Amino acid sequence: MDAIELLLTRQSDSNLSFPGPNPAQLEIIKKAALKVPDHGGLTPFKFIIVEERGREKLGEIYYQAAVKEQQEQRVIDRARQLPERAPMLIIAISPYQEHPKVPRIEQIQSAGCSVFAMQQAAFAQGLSGVWRTGYFAQSPEVKKQLGLDGKDEIVGYLYLGTPTVQCTKPTRHKPEDFFSSL
Ligand SMILES: Cc1cc2nc3c(=O)[nH]c(=O)nc-3n(C[C@H](O)[C@H](O)[C@H](O)COP(=O)(O)O)c2cc1C
Repeated sequence: MDAIELLLTRQSDSNLSFPGPNPAQLEIIKKAALKVPDHGGLTPFKFIIVEERGREKLGEIYYQAAVKEQQEQRVIDRARQLPERAPMLIIAISPYQEHPKVPRIEQIQSAGCSVFAMQQAAFAQGLSGVWRTGYFAQSPEVKKQLGLDGKDEIVGYLYLGTPTVQCTKPTRHKPEDFFSSL
């Protein structure tokens, strides 16, 4: 797949099955994550790979957090199953550092670029994925159990695996609706 085709056809997939990325594919995904714009060279990102038993551990972290933080029963009931939706998850974190020229938003944007780069690297290798957030990206208890600092941001959970259906989503947006000239 060439770069333009990748940029114009990349899509997300929620229905993901085994296998997840193999070691060679994962290496490329990791390298793509680090090849992103980064103001001041702060490398404002780090990643936790979750697979195999790690998915159970993450589900347990979700469950305990949802109970402790008194989430609705439907959130508690689903918590343990959520990480089982893909063979691999990559948790992308933006560890905020005070900097005179690089505000928090720019650091989070860099980490967001990493998520997108990893999704593209997966897609280009015949895998697929979806970037998710929600309550479990905001939960202080989840952050604590993952060993994160309170100021750290969970920028996303990138679910990765093999797509179960091969269908290309139609293009949703027209450039003329979003681009104007000055
Ligand atoms: C920061 C961010 C958080 C997201 N969180 C969720 C989420 O929690 N659940 C979800 O279904 N989609 C979420 N999405 C949207 C999907 O990742 C995806 O972009 C969307 O379904 C559109 O599909 P497409 O990428 O094929 O166009 C999120 C996207 C972004 C950028």
